[in-house]
Amino acid sequence: MLLSKLLAQSQHPEGWLGKIMMKLWNRAYFPMVKWSLGFVRTPQNGTILDVGVGNGLTTKYISDSASSSLVTGIDISETAITAARKKNTADNLSFFVTDVEDLPFPNHNFDLITAFQTHFHWNSYVRGLEEIYRVLKYNGQVIIACEKVKLNYFMSGDKNGEYTKRIAKNIGFTKLNTHYYQGWLYYHFTK
Ligand SMILES: C[S@@+](CC[C@H](N)C(=O)[O-])C[C@H]1O[C@@H](n2cnc3c(N)ncnc32)[C@H](O)[C@@H]1O
Repeated sequence: MLLSKLLAQSQHPEGWLGKIMMKLWNRAYFPMVKWSLGFVRTPQNGTILDVGVGNGLTTKYISDSASSSLVTGIDISETAITAARKKNTADNLSFFVTDVEDLPFPNHNFDLITAFQTHFHWNSYVRGLEEIYRVLKYNGQVIIACEKVKLNYFMSGDKNGEYTKRIAKNIGFTKLNTHYYQGWLYYHFTK
């Protein structure tokens, strides 16, 4: 009962429990975020999208390291975006409530798109990746990273990343790379 409540918060944080959970996720996932971002050169004078941001700590971290880029964070949860807007302000940073499966952005808009600890929650992973592909610029990069243990739980058909590689390739992504470290899994694609 308690476990299912906590797992539901992970998919869609709400209310006071959601706010607490988002702070706990910061502690748990931020080291993974830093590790993942170490694989890419953060675009300067560009556009960056962070998907499924929770309270926006990762988005703010990205915006600090790319102060000449415009950084946008999105999340399907109102509670998340309210917290993200309250906690993180910077001239180059904005947050919106929206679903990764229906992004309100034009085609070929972003240089880098990141998604930390969220892709296994999307209703349709394929649809989310298709939308990411649509709004990504040519030569743009995508980072998806998560704890492997969550894949075992939420996406057991993709424990070794083969499913992700197959659908990403079908959508049109190229240069698919995977890295593992401790319990973390990282995918990198290019358009
Ligand atoms: C476990 S939290 C991770 C938050 C943050 N990325 C972090 O690392 O702390 C997963 C987040 O994904 C969001 N999410 C789930 N499905 C989504 C979707 N279809 N579109 C956008 N965000 C989504 C949830 O609302 C939640 O805030």
